[in-house]
Amino acid sequence: MRRPFLLLKSVDMNERTWTEVDAYVAERLAPRDADLEAAQLAAADAGLPAISVSPLQGKMLSLLATMTGARRILEIGTLGGYSTLWLAWALPIGGHILTLEADPKHAEVARANFRRAGLEAAIELRLGRALDTLPKLAAENPQPFDLFFIDANKDDIPDYFQWALKLGRKGSVIVVDNVVRGGNILDAGSADANVRGVRRFYDMLAKEPRVSATAIQTVGLKGYDGFALAVIV
Ligand code: SAH
Ligand code: DHB
Ligand code: MG
Repeated sequence: MRRPFLLLKSVDMNERTWTEVDAYVAERLAPRDADLEAAQLAAADAGLPAISVSPLQGKMLSLLATMTGARRILEIGTLGGYSTLWLAWALPIGGHILTLEADPKHAEVARANFRRAGLEAAIELRLGRALDTLPKLAAENPQPFDLFFIDANKDDIPDYFQWALKLGRKGSVIVVDNVVRGGNILDAGSADANVRGVRRFYDMLAKEPRVSATAIQTVGLKGYDGFALAVIV
């Protein structure tokens, strides 16, 4: 008799298994792309932290952009532009990504990565703290954004989410990275500003009638974490 799947290997499921499964699936489903690989090399060479989305997470962002037919995307937290490039894969002709980054060195690496990929016209990077940039952006009365990827400092997630509500429209999708953080979010008394930010975000989501939302836990290359997904209703 076949053993129930849940019992199978339940003892040795660990981070190594998650990483190997990530590699196995990525080999098959995450297309290899010279620009994406060059972007990661350039980021590593420049000493940027290795905290970008994984290839399969990048593919998911790209799929979400396709599924929503996103033409205008706002990303908060660029790093070397790896997630930005994945999102750009899904853009239709004339589509646009605005990505916000506070660190000039990260911005420089990202801009070079966009240039190498020939995407300078489709991607605009604004340098500065996102909470300084967002009010200026709103003052320009931009067309609503279709998709948001919130992936900068975690203590300001609640504010970034509020800006997404302002800059979105009915049907816009908001993706928020790193909302599980190894389970640390369970600690109600945490002194960690990131954990507190994520917890405030969940409380905000729970009370927010303008969105319908979920959060999905993930394991893989990046350990144990998760992302939240919301749609403006
Ligand atoms: N989205 C990227 C990873 C972003 S890492 C990817 O998956 O490839 C988080 C980034 O947010 C870092 O580059 C960091 O410098 C930036 N950041 C941190 N605080 C910020 C702030 N207040 N405003 C804008 N960017 C910020
Ligand atoms: C960190 C930030 C991220 O955006 C991420 O995906 C993983 C880790 C961090 O600041 O540690
Ligand atoms: Mg992240």
